[in-house]
Amino acid sequence: MSLPMNFLWGGATAANQLEGGWQAGGRGLANVDVTPHGADRGDVMRGIKKIHKIDEKHHFPALEAIDFYHTYKEDIAEFAAMGFKVFRMSIAWSRIFPNGDENEPNEAGLAFYEDVFKELKKYQIEPLVTITHFDIPMHLIEQYGGWKNPIVIEFYKKLCRVLFTRFKPYVKWWLTFNEINMILHLPFMGAGLEFEEGEDQEKTKYLAAHHELLASAWATKIGHEINPENQIGCMVAAGDYYPYCPMPEDVFLAQQKQHENLMFIDVQARGEYPNYAKKMFERLGIDLNLDAEQEKLLKDYPVDFISFSYYSTRCVSTRDDAGESTGNAFKGVKNPYLKSSEWGWTIDPLGLRTTMNTLYDRYQKPLFIVENGLGAKDELVQDENGNWTVQDDYRIDYLRQHIQAFKDAVELDGIPLLGYTTWGCIDLVSASTGEMSKRYGFIYVDKDDQGQGSNQRYRKKSFDWYKKVIESNGENLD
Ligand code: BG6
Repeated sequence: MSLPMNFLWGGATAANQLEGGWQAGGRGLANVDVTPHGADRGDVMRGIKKIHKIDEKHHFPALEAIDFYHTYKEDIAEFAAMGFKVFRMSIAWSRIFPNGDENEPNEAGLAFYEDVFKELKKYQIEPLVTITHFDIPMHLIEQYGGWKNPIVIEFYKKLCRVLFTRFKPYVKWWLTFNEINMILHLPFMGAGLEFEEGEDQEKTKYLAAHHELLASAWATKIGHEINPENQIGCMVAAGDYYPYCPMPEDVFLAQQKQHENLMFIDVQARGEYPNYAKKMFERLGIDLNLDAEQEKLLKDYPVDFISFSYYSTRCVSTRDDAGESTGNAFKGVKNPYLKSSEWGWTIDPLGLRTTMNTLYDRYQKPLFIVENGLGAKDELVQDENGNWTVQDDYRIDYLRQHIQAFKDAVELDGIPLLGYTTWGCIDLVSASTGEMSKRYGFIYVDKDDQGQGSNQRYRKKSFDWYKKVIESNGENLD
């Protein structure tokens, strides 16, 4: 058997894409709530267009999402039926501190998550909790400028203290920030950053990232003090960069792009900024104001493990004739050897094994794949017994190949891997597009891109397949 017996199989979600109930129990407004579906979404996520209130003109998918706030018991029962050992979810910051800067937390918000954790415990499913998954209370943006302002570190520390203390009996697996490197690509979504005309965006993003990195080290410190059993990880949007061709310029560019991502984990796992980052800051005229105390904080409190999302590798080139790739937030050129999903994301199972080797060679800390999956259009059809389902062989195929790749990384390369949570184990709102039609789940949710539908759940073909995979600890991928 290639995977350890305690391997954590499961699925991954995020509060804003799943919960809905945006005002329930006194929850405050967050950046993710005012990010609409449709033409304005890209500019809002990039911090170029400002929408601060819910309006009639737009559809805001996070407000209702798939209403997990009210359906969590039934949904968790379905995860248990698949045999999940772990469930990745995130905390909506504005449920716990509606404005972000209150002194006391909101009891109704805490009670909601406590109920969710109790429900998971009933089925012996471990929660893996992302402290912030692309969300920050709007008040912290309007009043303080979001993560631009170092004072937000203090509010985040307060949030951490409350979470680690209250949920000590239930949670030991934590992630400090979802895809921390996303701040460079979608800064409003990643960190509540909005830009003024003429603002040096590069500078603002790296300073805000620095504040998040300090906050992440604080979370590790506070988390271990409150419960030494806590396992606290970083989370990066991973996927190695390939050079488009063996031209030295392309190889060098791929390495530089790789640095852009790895810089974050270098700080979180090794506890200091690498030389290439310090030199880049010098060139860009960025002063992080890093003092001895901060340096010590970063050095003394690295993460316990490295978690990452993996959807694809990326390909870059200095050549004019290389063409541009469509797809996710990371720009690049089309890799002529790979096929793409319906949304233009390249599919590269072997790239997962390559990426794992890159990460483990560099950090020698256990890895955790906390997102992977295929976003695809699904069609609800009736099976031979008249039950509604989705024949999603394409999803099974994608997952099978990726599971095989990480099994090889474990078995043949000796990489310690803690677990695997597929993204969007139940259909939920897409982060990049705000669509419902970009589906990842084993469970179909009847809702469309305009938020219309019965919200009814249906098991897809992949549901039974994943159950067998888990039952066999990854031995049976047929
Ligand atoms: C990651 C995010 O970027 O990819 C998730 O952590 C997101 O929040 C996932 O949903 C898949 O991306 P998308 O845009 O297809 O939803």
